[in-house]
Amino acid sequence: MSHPLIFLGIESSCDDTAAAVVRHREGEPAEILASVVDGQTALHAAFGGVVPEIAARAHAERLDLCVERALAEARLQLSDLDGVAVTAGPGLIGGVLSGVMCAKGIAAGSGLPLVGVNHLAGHALTPRLTDGLAFPYLMLLVSGGHCQFLIVRGPEDFSRVGGSIDDAPGEAFDKTAKLLGLPQPGGPSVEAEAARGDPRRFAFPRPMLDRPGCDMSFSGLKTALLRARDAVVAEKGGITREDRADLCAGFQAAVVEVLAEKTRRALALHAAEAPDRPALAVAGGVAANGPIRAALMRVAAQAGAGFVAPPLRLCTDNAAMIAWAGIERFRGGARDGMDLSARPRWPLDRTAPALIGSGKKGAKA
Ligand code: KG4
Ligand code: ZN
Repeated sequence: MSHPLIFLGIESSCDDTAAAVVRHREGEPAEILASVVDGQTALHAAFGGVVPEIAARAHAERLDLCVERALAEARLQLSDLDGVAVTAGPGLIGGVLSGVMCAKGIAAGSGLPLVGVNHLAGHALTPRLTDGLAFPYLMLLVSGGHCQFLIVRGPEDFSRVGGSIDDAPGEAFDKTAKLLGLPQPGGPSVEAEAARGDPRRFAFPRPMLDRPGCDMSFSGLKTALLRARDAVVAEKGGITREDRADLCAGFQAAVVEVLAEKTRRALALHAAEAPDRPALAVAGGVAANGPIRAALMRVAAQAGAGFVAPPLRLCTDNAAMIAWAGIERFRGGARDGMDLSARPRWPLDRTAPALIGSGKKGAKA
């Protein structure tokens, strides 16, 4: 039987400082021995977005504490580990640098191998950590900062088959909440309002559904929402709770329909390649949305595909996914040296055209 690998993972690419320990023996389910996530929401709350300098400083102050906590929770010492994996991009460069320097320090001091990980690969490989999903599969990464379809064929083999050309859906949910005076993060509050509303009262557009392919656009939806809200205000002098619920329901129904139809198309592309057992996996905060999740499950079932949605704490930013991606790269022979660099941009699919627009949280995915 093969020797199990135990990796420390370090994540600091946006506003979560995270460290985790993952153990895996080939042929067995992976075990998350510890996963510490120290969020920075309160530090940035007054600024309406993540402030890169504040984030980088907080990472530098907290990374070693998170690593110590993760090791203590796993009841392990550095000498018990087989390697250190760290997010080396894409992300806010000061934060990524903090993590890379921390990992290099640990690797240099302990003699452990160092493996740099692409943050997006961490998300994209999570269904293998949680469910042992076999390659290839289709991944929909849908968060506050990112929205893309990836065909995942191996730990380093990703094809981007479409995505948002402007805002990510989570960003659209957050802006909708802001326009309607609902609390942030907008996703859960808009979802709760929408559950009481009538999705047919306001006719919101279904952007880019009339165009072939798997690309999407969500920025027009918030403009449509703003117009609809202003029309109600002009007519009645304000909006009632019922108006607000109907606006949320209409907006959410549009997002659900666009995501479902584009996922259907992306799944068809993937199924043509893997007709025996196609699979759809989702990650990112927006995957927490009940109606979106239900629609994606339906699409997968109609296509005869499996459906994997990791638990939310592993769908959002964490270091267990980085430790796992490090184990996968390490098994493939990857090792990084002290020249590992921190990269603000690092597309997973080097052949796909560059994306337009970023996202409210910079490079967070
Ligand atoms: O993956 P995540 O934690 O971090 C980012 O990459 O941003 O995703 C956060 C995003 C936020 O925009 C939030 O509003 C959205 O995910 N979100 C949701 C729901 N829960 C979180 N969007 C729709 N419905 C939800 N229930
Ligand atoms: Zn992320």
